Amino acid sequence: MVISILFSAEVYRGFLLEFRRGLRNQSFRLPLIQGQQTLIIPFRNLPSDIENEIYEEARQRILLQLIEVNLGILITAGISGYFLAGRTLKPIELMVNEQKRFVADASHELRTPLTVMKTETEVALREKNLDLKDAKVLLKSNLEEVDKMQSLSNYLLELSRYEDKNNKPPMEKLNLEEIVKSVVQKLTPVAKKGNIEIITDVQHMEIMANRESIVELLSILLDNAIKYSHQGSKVIISIKKDKGAAIISIKDFGIGIKENELPFIFNRFYRADTSRSKVKTDGYGLGLSIAKSIVELHEGKITASSIPEKGTTFTIFIPLGVLRVN
Ligand SMILES: Nc1ncnc2c1ncn2[C@@H]1O[C@H](COP(=O)(O)OP(=O)(O)OP(=O)(O)O)[C@@H](O)[C@H]1O
Ligand SMILES: [Mg+2]
Repeated sequence: MVISILFSAEVYRGFLLEFRRGLRNQSFRLPLIQGQQTLIIPFRNLPSDIENEIYEEARQRILLQLIEVNLGILITAGISGYFLAGRTLKPIELMVNEQKRFVADASHELRTPLTVMKTETEVALREKNLDLKDAKVLLKSNLEEVDKMQSLSNYLLELSRYEDKNNKPPMEKLNLEEIVKSVVQKLTPVAKKGNIEIITDVQHMEIMANRESIVELLSILLDNAIKYSHQGSKVIISIKKDKGAAIISIKDFGIGIKENELPFIFNRFYRADTSRSKVKTDGYGLGLSIAKSIVELHEGKITASSIPEKGTTFTIFIPLGVLRVN
């Protein structure tokens, strides 16, 4: 608006100058044209009140037009600025809201074990005849809560680490087959508890990736597959090459995820209804959001398909270029 007003003021000033000069020239020419009819009015003798009247009329008209143009610019700029600013700020607003929700969820998850520990300790302290056995039970329970808080803080640290796009972890040549086997071995005791068989269908594959994060990614998905499977069920983990890319698939035959919940499972702190109520499983709903960050760090894609009570398949696709397949 300032530029437009300054520009208009300059146009106005220039116009008046030029107009007055034009008017003078005109009054000078008039006696020349009409010279043959001997109507010679010398330039300086032109009646100045006529000149002033024309000048004043033109001045008012140009002033009005410039005001109209500036008002038009002000209204258009104001309206479009309002909408454009809204559109520009929308992602920032969403990000701030998500951040707020994240902090609220994290504090809530931390508060629960703290409250449990506080209550149990207070009750024990009020007990006059607290014996060693009771004290040990209390300490064991407190330790469980500390473990929960520790795993939450580890999750939060991982999230912030993997989401930091400016600080990518070092990539190295990895043997994916060997990594899958070691993760399966690590989780076999957990699977055995639920009498779940882990079937591996792997081939030799070398990739460029960050070891720690790939181990974490596979552990998260395999842990979920076991956690949300029925007793005596099986989990299949396979890797294959497709058009120079690595495709990792983790398939289970467990409780599955409802179609309307599928779009949200990668959100932080999201837990589907089934995992909250029917099958009482521990968790924060952070595993899959970390998995997604890891896949994105490797410029890949992760998808989930599921049929309730039939099972779930997670497929990870890591394109060639970042993850070189030999
Ligand atoms: N293989 C699966 N089968 C069925 N539901 C699943 C499976 N994997 C994930 N889900 C659903 O997606 C939700 C989010 O999974 P995510 O791994 O992020 O969290 P979580 O397992 O609940 O807790 P944690 O933070 O400890 O991993 C789960 O709560 C569960 O409802
Ligand atoms: Mg999980």
